[in-house]
Amino acid sequence: MTDTTKTPPELEQLLADLKPDNADLLAVLHRIQDAYGYVPPQAIPLLAEKLHTTPAMIYGAISFYSEIRREPPARTTISWCSGPACRLKGSENMRRALEAVLGIGLEESTDDKAVGLHLVQCDGTCALAPLVRLDGHPKGPLTVSEAIRLARELKGKEGQP
Ligand code: FES
Repeated sequence: MTDTTKTPPELEQLLADLKPDNADLLAVLHRIQDAYGYVPPQAIPLLAEKLHTTPAMIYGAISFYSEIRREPPARTTISWCSGPACRLKGSENMRRALEAVLGIGLEESTDDKAVGLHLVQCDGTCALAPLVRLDGHPKGPLTVSEAIRLARELKGKEGQP
């Protein structure tokens, strides 16, 4: 189990240049996420100390930005588009099917961290609506049965080498 009270030296090094008057918090959170895949809990008190604020303020910012992860990412990420074109073409039914097959809700991962399901906004690839992004790559238009097949395939990979 990870010790959440100890600050890893690499994290100290990653944030060494931070000063209270020159920090863009969102950019710093992305820097940490790029390095670790998420913002580990040990980063919160360190950031608070460096930016002369409270851990609660840092935690609030992390919770506010949906693109910032508080847990390690799943091995495969399904991003469900909540934009209007996708919704008009039935993406809500697709979301319900994905959630039912995977046994998780939005912003959750399967217990073995094989698959994560996330909500994303329209990025302009509406010609493929309704779509999901599989590890960032758009996949669509998808029918509900194709979404079910996709979720079953990804779930079926669990435990495989
Ligand atoms: S609404 Fe989904 S990609 Fe535009």
